Amino acid sequence: MIRMSTTLEAPAATRGLVEITKVRKTFGPTEVLKGISLTVEPGGVAVIVGPSGSGKSTLLRTINHLEKVDAGFIAIDGELVGYRVKGNKLHELPERDILKQRTEIGMVFQNFNLFPHLTALENVTEAPVVAPRPGKPRRSQAEARARGLELLDRVGLRDRADAYPRQLSGGQQQRVAIARALALDPKILLFDEPTSALDPELVNEVLDVIRELAKSGTTLIIVTHEMGFARDVADTVVFMDQGQIVEQGKPQDIFTNPQEERTRSFFSKVIEPAFNI
Ligand SMILES: Nc1ncnc2c1ncn2[C@@H]1O[C@H](COP(=O)(O)OP(=O)(O)OP(=O)(O)O)[C@@H](O)[C@H]1O
Ligand SMILES: [Mg+2]
Repeated sequence: MIRMSTTLEAPAATRGLVEITKVRKTFGPTEVLKGISLTVEPGGVAVIVGPSGSGKSTLLRTINHLEKVDAGFIAIDGELVGYRVKGNKLHELPERDILKQRTEIGMVFQNFNLFPHLTALENVTEAPVVAPRPGKPRRSQAEARARGLELLDRVGLRDRADAYPRQLSGGQQQRVAIARALALDPKILLFDEPTSALDPELVNEVLDVIRELAKSGTTLIIVTHEMGFARDVADTVVFMDQGQIVEQGKPQDIFTNPQEERTRSFFSKVIEPAFNI
């Protein structure tokens, strides 16, 4: 067989190991994460599914320390998120160090969260110009612009670089948001229901971009209700219910042969009868 291009093969990922250990989180009287442990290997793709209120968004938000955990810890490439160990105690990092850590973790939200007064390109280049890059000089405007165009190209929107968000469809806005999340060359990308605010006919253009990213060696953790997509893209599907991971496994196993009744019952409601594994 003739190999046409080596770029068809994903590079072996060496960074982006996520280790979540016994994480707990309480809001008021309600414990919404009840001891979550999950490992995602470098370059791995974990898709988290589960009913509304099961704690999926909260878990994602703990990974970049937008939510503080009450117990347990999260490490990325062996480095604790949000804390450092001193003696045998954990101390929260100063804000500056937390921001620095966050540059390694891109996040894409349901509602795009683009700046309305900035063009697509400016939305993408904003972060590289202002954010600190540990050990590296700040990018110049010209460098940031070139990199921004490259990233817009990657999501198929180079020709819309000068459009404002209001001039773009929801699917295009979400692709800009993905380009922006990539701008700091993160180790990990978190997606919280990236397509659920989109009209059905726009869902696929966004999922296709995420499918490409899945091959790129960046670790992805994706919350979605798109089960067909989960089946295609995931190395691991994680089913959460009531603040716990009920079951996790390879898509072909968990969809066809769930071990737990709760998993079976959830999939029977969300997967259409015609869904072929
Ligand atoms: N900041 C907060 N203050 C109080 N309660 C919260 C807060 N954020 C989340 N919760 C509660 O925590 C629980 C889990 O919420 P979370 O948003 O993580 O669920 P989810 O699985 O993402 O749900 P959905 O599928 O609807 O997005 C819910 O009961 C929610 O009301
Ligand atoms: Mg949510």
